This record gives sequence, structure tokens and C-alpha cells, in this order.
Amino acid sequence: MAKKAPSTTRGYREDLSEMPDWMKKKKCPNRDKFLAGARIQPRNIKGKEKLADLIDATFLAYNGARLREGCQLFTTKMLEPDVTIGMSLSGALTPAGLGCSAIVPLIKAGFVDWIVATGANLYHDLHFALNYPVRAGSFKMDDTELRDNDIVRVYDVLLGYSDCLMATDEILRGILVQPEFQKEMGTAELHYLLGRYAAEWERKAGVKDVSVLAAAYRAGVPCYTSSPGDSTIGMNVAGGELRGNKLRINASIDVNETTAYVLAAKRSGGRSGVVLWGGGSPKNFMLQTEPQIQEVLRIKEYGQDFFLQVTDARPDTGGLSGATPSEAVSWGKVDPNRLPDAVVCYTDTTIAMPLLTHYALARHKPRKLRRLYGQRDKMMKALTKEYFLHTKLKMVDGSDPVLD
Ligand SMILES: NC(=O)c1ccc[n+]([C@@H]2O[C@H](COP(=O)([O-])OP(=O)(O)OC[C@H]3O[C@@H](n4cnc5c(N)ncnc54)[C@H](O)[C@@H]3O)[C@@H](O)[C@H]2O)c1
Repeated sequence: MAKKAPSTTRGYREDLSEMPDWMKKKKCPNRDKFLAGARIQPRNIKGKEKLADLIDATFLAYNGARLREGCQLFTTKMLEPDVTIGMSLSGALTPAGLGCSAIVPLIKAGFVDWIVATGANLYHDLHFALNYPVRAGSFKMDDTELRDNDIVRVYDVLLGYSDCLMATDEILRGILVQPEFQKEMGTAELHYLLGRYAAEWERKAGVKDVSVLAAAYRAGVPCYTSSPGDSTIGMNVAGGELRGNKLRINASIDVNETTAYVLAAKRSGGRSGVVLWGGGSPKNFMLQTEPQIQEVLRIKEYGQDFFLQVTDARPDTGGLSGATPSEAVSWGKVDPNRLPDAVVCYTDTTIAMPLLTHYALARHKPRKLRRLYGQRDKMMKALTKEYFLHTKLKMVDGSDPVLD
């Protein structure tokens, strides 16, 4: 086919001011379509507005607009009853108090059904359950002096080394050798068992709703970590192994269980969505569920229905933390037809998470808890069955799979 000749009018801009409307429309056929957006002319802020109203009315451009779109996507679409929501947590969120302020309320309201966190977020959560204070400091403090004063620093957050970190470790070690931990398990079970203790510590300390692990335990929200060895929980599991402790973490259990939730959401006629706070391995672990379904288990599926990410990472380095939803489409992680609904907001989670949590709680009533933790076996059986039905594979020893 012959190439269309380039427009001769491209080089300069014609003055249309004197032109009749019908001619303008002919010259600029798509003008009305482009200018169909809401007019940017918000009212003066008075100081009396409700926060959710302020977000709707004044977060109108750039990452403010992305944050508003994220709040609206989460609240009006993702919180529909048929959507199963996974939430990934990267970055030092629990030390910043976001466990107490936002993640626990999101769990209690049924706004998150399963979680993948860095081990650090779940480890530092234990200080809150144990009522060991984590305190505001400054990023300008002298770290050598902090060390001399038995203090560790996460940017502008301070923790006592002996009376918070080491004290938590001591208690954690005592728990990990208990009988219920003497076996191989996935991290959902590990964190559920730890959550039971965390709930008990909260009760004994008289502190309510401060621990993510305790809240997740009570709500039946399974909590995974994508890198079980890379945190002080993992370090203590490893230390225990040297002493003959029988606890073994099996990452494949985690990969298959998380995949089973996504497949179960789809097969029940529902939808699946992800809220990604930061990037890192929790983001990929959550998103790889779809490639696991499609590429490894060879089951026909199309990708996540909803994608909402808050990150500081750029896409142009090729790193996963900044990878966009459209890049995720190419891997089968996100359904291409759902791309218009995907939102990425480039900001700090410590800003965005309290705002989104407030917005969602202000605008949406709590959802019925899905309690996925207790449904793991049922969903794993369904996943396994579909896997063998599609692939017609035998077991690796040549026997027929047992599918009930
Ligand atoms: N004591 C501990 O247990 C401990 C302490 C620190 C880290 N770790 C381990 O180190 C690993 C890395 O964890 P991490 O928490 O440093 O995550 P990370 O730095 O790997 O986070 C991944 C990405 O998320 C984004 N991100 C991080 N914080 C953000 C924020 N506030 N707002 C927006 N985007 C943000 C950044 O792009 C970052 O590159 C984990 O496996 C963790 O368990 C352990």
C-alpha cells in the first residue's frame, strides 16, 4: 500500500481564530475528543473539607491525579464483592507505623484478601505486637553515636538494639522451636502460627490492632514472604536449623498457593486485582501467579483484572520495581483488555497508603472477609486438578495423579 504523504501543514500552526466553527471542526476533527476532560478549576481550599472530598476535588494532575485515580479505582471497582485482592508490601512500612495506621484497618475491613510482604515488614511488625516502642528520630543523626547508644536506624525511625531488636529475636527464637513449627511449611502457615502469638502478645500488652500478623491471623488473610531467608525471621529460622530445629520453609508451597487464589478467583466467575506498594520481590511474587498459571501449568488464563501500584522506581532501568502494567501485559501478568483500568502512582508509600486507606474506608463499607487462609487446601486441589486435566501429564514416577 502506498504511504500516506506527510501533512504539509505540520511545520507551522495556522491561526484559526477568524475561522467559522464548521471549518474549524473540519480542520481539527478530534479537538472535542481531546478536550472532553473535566475543566481544571477547583474551588479554594477552606480547611473544612473532608479528606476524600479533597482528593476528588483537588488531586487533578500529575501524581496527585494518579493517586486520586488509584483511590477511585480501588474503591469503586476493586472493592466489588467478586474481586479477590492481593497486596504486596515492600520498603520499610511497618517501622514507619503503616501497619497500625493503614494495613490493619485494610485487613479488618476485608479490603485485602492475601498479602506478600518482605520478611522485614513482618519481622518489625512483631515489635508492635510485643509493645516494644519504635520511635521517631532523624535522618541527620550520627550513626556512630547511635551505635554507641545501642540504637539502630531506618532512615528517620529509631529502634533500641538490645531492648527492641534483640529482645524480639529472643522471643522469636523461643517460639520457632515450639512443636507446631517442627515441620516443612510455606510462609503463610509460618506467619499464621506467628500471628497467633502476636495476637496473644497484643492482648497481654493491652494494645489493640497494632500488628499486621495478629490482624491477618484473626481475619484469615494469608501472609507470604517472597524471600524467606532475607529478614531477621529467616535469619532466626536458619540459626535454629544449626541447633537441629526441624522448621523448613518450602517456597514452592507459596508459589502454588498464591497461584491457586488467583485461579480460584477467576474460576468462581470473579476477578483478581493487585495493589502493589513499592516494588521488589513481593511485587513480582504477586504478579508471577498469572505466568505460573499460563506458562508453567499451561492453563488458559488472561492476566490480572486490576493493577494499582505506588512506587518510586523508574521503568527505564529495566528493573521489576518500576516495570509498568503494559510491560506486565507482555508477560501475561495483566489482562490487556483491563489495561485502561491500571494505575501507577510515582510517590512514597508513606504518603499514599494512609490517603488511600482513608479514602476507601470513607467511601466503601467493609467487605465480607474472604478468609483465604482456611481455603488453601481446597483451592490447591482445584489448581492441581485443572493442571493435570489441561496437560494430561503423569506424575514424575509415571503413575497417574490422584485427583479427588
Ligand atoms: N531486619 C530485617 O529483617 C530487614 C531489614 C531491612 C531489609 N530486609 C530485607 O531486605 C529486602 C529488601 O527489603 P526493602 O524493604 O528494603 O525493600 P526494597 O528496597 O527491595 O523495595 C523494593 C522497591 O520498592 C520501592 N520502594 C521502597 N520503599 C518505597 C516507598 N516508601 N515508597 C515507594 N516505593 C518504595 C523501591 O523502588 C524499591 O527499590 C527484603 O527481603 C527484606 O526482608 C530485612
